[in-house]
Amino acid sequence: MGLNIYLIKIVYFLIHFVYIISFLEYNIYYIMTHIRLCDYTASVKLRSMYSYLGCDLMNVLLINGSPHKEGCTYTALYEVAKELNKEQIDTNIVHIGTKPVAGCIDCGKCIQTGYCVFDDDPVNECVNLMKESDGLVVGSPVYYAGPNGALCSFLDRMFYRKSKFYEYKPAAAVVNCRRGGASASFDRLNKYFTISNMPVVSSQYWNSTHGFIPEETLQDVEGLQTMRTLGRNMAWLIKCISYSKEKYPHPIREPQIMTNFIK
Ligand SMILES: Cc1cc2nc3c(=O)[nH]c(=O)nc-3n(C[C@H](O)[C@H](O)[C@H](O)COP(=O)(O)O)c2cc1C
Repeated sequence: MGLNIYLIKIVYFLIHFVYIISFLEYNIYYIMTHIRLCDYTASVKLRSMYSYLGCDLMNVLLINGSPHKEGCTYTALYEVAKELNKEQIDTNIVHIGTKPVAGCIDCGKCIQTGYCVFDDDPVNECVNLMKESDGLVVGSPVYYAGPNGALCSFLDRMFYRKSKFYEYKPAAAVVNCRRGGASASFDRLNKYFTISNMPVVSSQYWNSTHGFIPEETLQDVEGLQTMRTLGRNMAWLIKCISYSKEKYPHPIREPQIMTNFIK
């Protein structure tokens, strides 16, 4: 009789355990969008919880290059992140901040250490995040028909001599402008990915939104749809790469030839 009660309790516990797990699985999008799971610690915890359950939680790093933490660029990035979350892919949105971002001084120290000598901005944090991430989205406001200067300095240091860790991870750029210069800025940002063996994810239009304040960007319904399509396309490509990696491992690289055209 006593044994039966224990048996019932165990079955009861198991049913609830399965219920909780499926609740987490199916409501991950809800949880992420409502408590804005955008910080690294929460993301690492969630990922380890998933791996404990035998699942792989994929992750995309989104870099907001605007000085405005929750401005128009963030609004565009957030639209991409929401779509990735719907596809059960975790997201970290990192803001580069408003302090001056040093440019690369070509000191070569990163060749030995793998990290930038300047450690007073999130560049090295992003290097680490990219090692763990399955994809990257870089967001920039348009300044004089190009990405903003601080973001270019940030990306020069994040990519230079460190991009071997980012190879074969899908990447995309998104830009926000008030009026013009979007596609020139978009092209410039794609250069970081296309020199780094990163597959570039496309959308239904060149990835841009228009607005001077976030409320205006929210009115750019075509721009936002382009962001959502980008999020879904990136989720699809990340899953294709991840689920087929046993059968189709990354291509073997030839040793790099460098010619500097000195003659
Ligand atoms: C220095 C500077 C240059 C700008 N140049 C352009 C430009 O060339 N084209 C444009 O449409 N908007 C331009 N803008 C407006 C910004 O693109 C716009 O304020 C920004 O995208 C808003 O996004 P945010 O809230 O994420 O910063 C410029 C703004 C600044 C501060």
